[in-house]
Amino acid sequence: MTTRILHTADLAIAADLLRQGELVAFPTETVYGLGANALNEAAVRRVYEVKGRPTDNPMIVHVHSCQQARELMQVVPDFFSELTNEFWPGPLTLIVKHNAAVPDVVTAGLDTVALRIPDLRVTRDLLRLANIPLAAPSANISGRPSPTTAEQVFNDLNGRISAVLDGGPCPLGIESTVLDLTSAEPTILRPGTVTREDLEDVTQSRVYFAETNSDRPLSPGMKYRHYAPRAELKIIPWNDLVESMLRDTCTAVRQHVEAGRRVGLMAPDSFRGCGETHWYSLGAGLAVDYARLLYAGMRELDEAGAEVILCPGIEAEGIGLAVMNRLLKAGEIQ
Ligand code: TXA
Ligand code: MG
Repeated sequence: MTTRILHTADLAIAADLLRQGELVAFPTETVYGLGANALNEAAVRRVYEVKGRPTDNPMIVHVHSCQQARELMQVVPDFFSELTNEFWPGPLTLIVKHNAAVPDVVTAGLDTVALRIPDLRVTRDLLRLANIPLAAPSANISGRPSPTTAEQVFNDLNGRISAVLDGGPCPLGIESTVLDLTSAEPTILRPGTVTREDLEDVTQSRVYFAETNSDRPLSPGMKYRHYAPRAELKIIPWNDLVESMLRDTCTAVRQHVEAGRRVGLMAPDSFRGCGETHWYSLGAGLAVDYARLLYAGMRELDEAGAEVILCPGIEAEGIGLAVMNRLLKAGEIQ
């Protein structure tokens, strides 16, 4: 199979392929998703196969409207309407109880399903044209950084899927916030760019974080190593003094270089020039810059041949919390 690259003018082709049960990767505002007709069991099973994804890790179902979401739900939980009014379309995935329309293979047998309406014009046009809910995990080989360009999808999945719809680079760059509405209190299973504070403003109620060290992870995907580059990723612990962050980063770069390793430094522009072998800019270094560029940086430094990637941490607040969550899953503190 050769994987076709489709453009926004080819939406009807992409929609037809999906309706026929083929796999098509598509852009969203967060990361590229690997789409399959969520109501077609064989198609969904192939998504697990081509990604090498463990079959106990359920998928997010993407829809074009609240009405289409409700057609898959058993009950509409508290806060659903308030949250969707505010955040849909957008990078918020809601976990709700599903009805019999949703095949087990999508939810890994759970009685809940993850739903969201993505916020790119092209994605919503595709969902409307196809007019079927699309099961779509991130369009990477399992364990690799999520793709934020069509080219990265192609590099991972060429020959294994029918097409990639190229909608340019994803504006946000990290995966959606996953919020469970089926537990006693609304609970964040995966942090994202919709923050706890954003959610609490709308629910006017406490929002909790899932216990990350519980034996039974609420979000099956949380227990797997994730998002990792091939190189070893080392994170310089954050502190609020820029000078000391710079010093700690340069010291770490030099140590690894002296140990004979090719060092990729992925950092805000002001960190450039510590003696690193390869450089990747995280722009001005705001949390949104980290989010947008993080995965692309890991992939680019891998391709450049870095053996170790160093990255200064940021404050784990707001969107920075989601960024540090991804960094710590991909690597470890230096
Ligand atoms: O931004 C995103 O969310 C992207 C784009 C493509 O929409 N998708 C994405 O999918 O990141 P994926 O499969 O890489 O991550 C989905 C996460 C996993 O951690 C999975 O375990 C969790 O959502 N999840 C899915 N269904 C669930 C359910 N019923 N209960 C709890 N967690 C669930
Ligand atoms: Mg993923």
